[in-house]
Amino acid sequence: MESYRRSPTSIVPRFPDGSTVKVDRREVIIVKLIASDWKTRVYRAVECNEDRILKELLPGNNPDECSRHEALSGHPNIVRHITHLRGNHDGHRRLLLLMEYAPFGDLRDAVREFGPLRRQEAWNFFSQIVSALGYMHRKGYAHGAVHPRNVFVFGSDLCKLGDFGNGGWVYDDPRHKYHKIAPIESTDLQGAADTLLFCLIGCWPPPSFWERFMEIENEADAHWLLVDCGLKAVISVDELMYIRAFYDLRFTNRPIPEVYGPLRSSMECDYD
Ligand SMILES: Nc1ncnc2c1ncn2[C@@H]1O[C@H](COP(=O)(O)OP(=O)(O)O)[C@@H](O)[C@H]1O
Ligand SMILES: [Mg+2]
Repeated sequence: MESYRRSPTSIVPRFPDGSTVKVDRREVIIVKLIASDWKTRVYRAVECNEDRILKELLPGNNPDECSRHEALSGHPNIVRHITHLRGNHDGHRRLLLLMEYAPFGDLRDAVREFGPLRRQEAWNFFSQIVSALGYMHRKGYAHGAVHPRNVFVFGSDLCKLGDFGNGGWVYDDPRHKYHKIAPIESTDLQGAADTLLFCLIGCWPPPSFWERFMEIENEADAHWLLVDCGLKAVISVDELMYIRAFYDLRFTNRPIPEVYGPLRSSMECDYD
């Protein structure tokens, strides 16, 4: 009974720094633990002088993340999956996912360290995230947690979407058949718009911004919101009106950027 009450993190010990871990015939050396919570540990590691990330999914976490990630790997804006394995390590059964390492970490940490992105960089990142979402949605996967912590930075001109442990299956929602885009897909695109705002402003806007943002009806409202929040220099009225459209209550009215690629409804595929 005692062990039943203990959390997985206390039952399964973490890999010590400097230890060697075998993942599917590959050997990686643990450099350090960079993130952990009750369901996950994320280690920075090296394999033959190449930087890697080793993600350990603790008991109770969603094991589908590994196969989802593998199925999506291959797009230039999706973090590359290298391998995954469920096996015994030090007498404990562990599920390990090996992937490429993003030198600048996640986008939230990068923006906190280096400040807001330049306008063109922010829009470029937005396009890259939307392109990754179009790719995964056409395969039937919704991401479910698009925000700066799940976007990984490889340089000022390259970011990739990662962390596939949250989303659902687009075809579970019968509305995907009747609308050009299903609500969970539209919510992912809204997450990309949230991320764009974060990159342009350099932090999350305060609740007072969101209240007025959601009430924007015309260009004058957008103009005065930008003036009052001191954001005129980083976002134009046209840009704010476009971003606002991603939050339309009717998801079918929301914009679908061209870089998202063809909609399922325009493709001659039978996904059922
Ligand atoms: N490929 C990666 N490159 C660099 N840092 C990473 C990478 N993957 C994860 N991290 C770091 O670990 C944190 C948690 O990883 P994530 O996969 O989002 O796990 P969780 O499921 O706990 O949210 C990230 O926010 C980031 O700081
Ligand atoms: Mg995450």
